[in-house]
Amino acid sequence: MEDKEKKLRQINQQLKALVSGEDDYLANLSNAAALLYNELEKVNWAGFYLMKEGELVLGPFQGLPACIRIKVGNGVCGSAVEDEKTYVVEDVHQFEGHIACDSASESEIVVPLYADERIVGVLDIDSPIKERFDDIDKKYLEEFAKIISKESKFQMDALESLKSRRSVRSFKDKKVEDEKIIEMIDAARLAPSGKNIQPVEYLIIQDEKKRKEITEIASGGDFIAEAPLCIAVISKKCEHDIEDGSAATENILISAKAQGLDSCWVAGYKKDYSSGIEEYFSLPEDYRLISLLAIGYSNKDPEPPAKKSIEEVIHYENFDLEREV
Ligand code: SME
Repeated sequence: MEDKEKKLRQINQQLKALVSGEDDYLANLSNAAALLYNELEKVNWAGFYLMKEGELVLGPFQGLPACIRIKVGNGVCGSAVEDEKTYVVEDVHQFEGHIACDSASESEIVVPLYADERIVGVLDIDSPIKERFDDIDKKYLEEFAKIISKESKFQMDALESLKSRRSVRSFKDKKVEDEKIIEMIDAARLAPSGKNIQPVEYLIIQDEKKRKEITEIASGGDFIAEAPLCIAVISKKCEHDIEDGSAATENILISAKAQGLDSCWVAGYKKDYSSGIEEYFSLPEDYRLISLLAIGYSNKDPEPPAKKSIEEVIHYENFDLEREV
């Protein structure tokens, strides 16, 4: 085996040892950048850009300070995201649109970083010599990126997930992992509850036959059959169970998005078919359905729906009919 290949294999082994058992993605990316920068020869920058609100933002790296934001489609990094493939650039000066962060850079490799089949960022390595990277680097650095993805939880923060969430009604045929379901229910059970009565409970439905049967009862919710997971939020009737159940439902939707999942809030407790669903689940008399949620990995990115501006909805101190919008 060539020395080069041996070295790259060794780096991947070292990475495995560094990230094994640790799911914090920032910690793992930081160690990964340090490992590459210190172990690879003829490299002047090694690090990551991460997808945030639709663009790449500088992540952990080693080397000189770099540009912070890169739009999808721009530079080598943005091209790797747009085309979902590794770019090996022999001479950065020949790459149209190359973004020069360090004037010493002559060649570059950019490898997409995935979590659950979606791109969450890129690994970027620059070299001060031309033609530094080839297909052997590509092979081992793609494996390097996979090792990071396998161990790390790439989660959005709560504000980003609630601002980027859209209702999705078309899903991939891909199961939702058990630990993600538990994380969603954990977020739901921690939602505010009037007088802390906590009347809300959750039915997890993954069985295909059952999901089909549910869609036959819940008109307008056909995509529940397509989504790999349906969660029925139910509640014991009490003074605030609708509010409690709705708050828990929202926590599930936001936590789903934070974990790379998409969703749609299908039913409310007022629907004509709500009692049909309650019967289907054989709920006790003193329980009711609050919401039915379809959850899974999105098949496409839906257009954001038009939303009112802050000015249209905000009032200070009193309801102000005359306020200027
Ligand atoms: N050259 C990259 C920008 C990032 S720096 O190399 C660190 C590009 O063209 O996308």
